[in-house]
Amino acid sequence: MSPSKSGMYPAVPDRPLSGLRRSRAVLVTGAGGEMGHSLIGALAARPGTSVVAMDIRELDHEVRAKCENAFVGDVCDAQLLERLLAMYEVDEVFHLAALLSTRGEFAPETAHQVNVVGTLNLLKLSAEQARSHGRRVKFIFPSSIAAYGIPDLDTKRKAGAVREDQFLEPHTMYGVNKLAGEHLGRYYESHYRKLAKDRMASPIDFRSIRFPGIISADTLPSGGTSDYGPEMIHAAAQGNAYACFVRRDTRIPFMTMPDAVEAILKLAAAPKERLTRCVYNVAGFSPSAGDFERLVLARFPKAQISFEPDLGRQSIVDSWPEDVNDSAARGDWGWSPKHDLDRAFDEYLMPRITARYR
Ligand code: SER
Repeated sequence: MSPSKSGMYPAVPDRPLSGLRRSRAVLVTGAGGEMGHSLIGALAARPGTSVVAMDIRELDHEVRAKCENAFVGDVCDAQLLERLLAMYEVDEVFHLAALLSTRGEFAPETAHQVNVVGTLNLLKLSAEQARSHGRRVKFIFPSSIAAYGIPDLDTKRKAGAVREDQFLEPHTMYGVNKLAGEHLGRYYESHYRKLAKDRMASPIDFRSIRFPGIISADTLPSGGTSDYGPEMIHAAAQGNAYACFVRRDTRIPFMTMPDAVEAILKLAAAPKERLTRCVYNVAGFSPSAGDFERLVLARFPKAQISFEPDLGRQSIVDSWPEDVNDSAARGDWGWSPKHDLDRAFDEYLMPRITARYR
């Protein structure tokens, strides 16, 4: 669809135009990001799934090749989203686009726009999709351990594995935004347009995971505060010195990217009646930054690692839990990570990272 002479895009039809069948697709936003890279491969391999991708930048060729179509643009651009959803019948949305916790503290209002207004745009248009094709749209939203805000280190150390309903007073804009996204999803699923006579009950099937820091062998994160884990490993594999921006005793949960993708696909596939909540913790392993150093040095004895804590970024990770209680995810949809810390290094990270930088 192209703009009319007036420069406006045609109004989006409420229903498919007669004679025009929209093809069914899964929409992935933030498709060019770390998780998008891995998730798109797995989604494209699902029989009968056409992936429509969206990202602020052009996708690299490898990811683009796995998609039916790819749109370059911003999740805040409601007109672009409308155009996209007028072309495809979207049954499932994986809304990965986000501005992470470190970057968000330099531009909190921009983070709010991308992380909350972008999410709201997608939820609204997904609800309209559901109305137009008469089926609920599944909306998968990666949330984060940043949704937690533990007041001080002493409390963090005593808290142990934090449950989903504890310490929900995040210290970062990103955490505030993720918590807002969780609430928006719950609202669209259960209460959207409560007073409207023509409302469709429950247009959205909202499912969310609070992810810990994620470590990928294939990509590096950017703009996050859990980045020190993956940065230390990739720097050592490349023979670069690394100055870690948190203290050696800093501890938060992490997981590998394959486990994160497995979690998101498992939650997406779970029968709705098995789900007792909208938002789930998932845990992998909880090393200290010093544990990362030890494991990296055991495999790259020449690695040069120093610790030069940045007080601001340190205060962010100090407000995140050491561990999370993921018993609801284990019980409801069979969550069980493949990698503990040693297996993460030996079976996933080392073989792939060393091959990558050889
Ligand atoms: N990786 C995210 C960040 O560091 C946390 O979910 O912002």
